[in-house]
Amino acid sequence: MRSEMFEPFYSSPNDTIFTIRNVQAKFGEGVSSEVGYDARRLGIKKALIVTDKNINENTKIPSKIKEYLEEAGVKAEIFDGTHIEPIDTEVIKAIEFAKGKDYDGFIAVGGGSSIDTAKMINLYVTYPTPDFKDYIAPPTGGGKPVPGPLKPLICIPTTAGTGSENTPVAIVDLVKEKLKVGISHPYLLPSFALLDPVLTISLPPYYTASTGIDALMHCIECYTAIPYYARPRPASPDKRPVYIGSNPVSDIFVEKAIELIGKYLRKAYYNPYDIEARRNMLLAAHLGGAFGNAGVHISHALAYPIAGRRHDLPHGITVAITGPAMLEFLEPIVPERLARIAQLLGEKIEGLKIREAAALAKEAL
Ligand SMILES: [Fe+2]
Repeated sequence: MRSEMFEPFYSSPNDTIFTIRNVQAKFGEGVSSEVGYDARRLGIKKALIVTDKNINENTKIPSKIKEYLEEAGVKAEIFDGTHIEPIDTEVIKAIEFAKGKDYDGFIAVGGGSSIDTAKMINLYVTYPTPDFKDYIAPPTGGGKPVPGPLKPLICIPTTAGTGSENTPVAIVDLVKEKLKVGISHPYLLPSFALLDPVLTISLPPYYTASTGIDALMHCIECYTAIPYYARPRPASPDKRPVYIGSNPVSDIFVEKAIELIGKYLRKAYYNPYDIEARRNMLLAAHLGGAFGNAGVHISHALAYPIAGRRHDLPHGITVAITGPAMLEFLEPIVPERLARIAQLLGEKIEGLKIREAAALAKEAL
């Protein structure tokens, strides 16, 4: 596309435009039972349920989802081979499993790993490519753009953390390269999400904490990301990055999410059956998925090389350990934003100088 085609009436060297993106979703206790209705509505006749062994063997969630689909006349099969923190070799096996089976839609049931695996199955089955790395962002991969819309993907998260049901990104570990990398494209955004707090009750405290802190880090990084108007204006609309930087709409989402996480993460950790805490954490994680729009930065960037060497650590832990140092670095740059984060996390900032208030964000984290 020629850049002159997009010469706006008002010209500025920096971008003046931000995108507003939020996946369509339904929220509430019991909403996962409506999956059959929504799958049919989206035109799905034969679905692959993508989940992991732990959920499939220790809960009835995937088999129940299969039942709901079949009751609505949608054929469904379960694939429970998702690797927690997806690695390329396992994702390739998952793609091979799905190839040639004519699934016309995907249902992801689980945490970010299942959702990201479902996104990648959908991408590579719909638009096969000779090398798995073709769609991965450069410099590691070829950065090939996704050629067109994917098949419908309905996400049913069972953790309150990644917000992956609300992002156009899939993360994968490249085992040989010891690197965690991402595939991001607007077409990777799921079609729909069913957010059922009841499904998060089975999450043990350790994973409640690690996924919850991941959600908080998304919000903090999103809120302190370089604003969209500080980026050069792209030559054409298709060159505008998926991560556009902080903007007034993502700010609203993440401010609310930070407040909810500050209030409810400890409660959900101490009492897994506290449905009010589970409900608010799931909502917060979903709102925090606004990072798929604004973008995360320092702590997530630092987490990738850590995770590349320590596959045993949950994503949230690899992100959170550098959180306080990141906030220290950001203190002189965006003190007002840090002061607001501290306040949202319950710190008293009234009467303090701005730098004193900003320093409390690190304490609160
Ligand atoms: Fe994350």
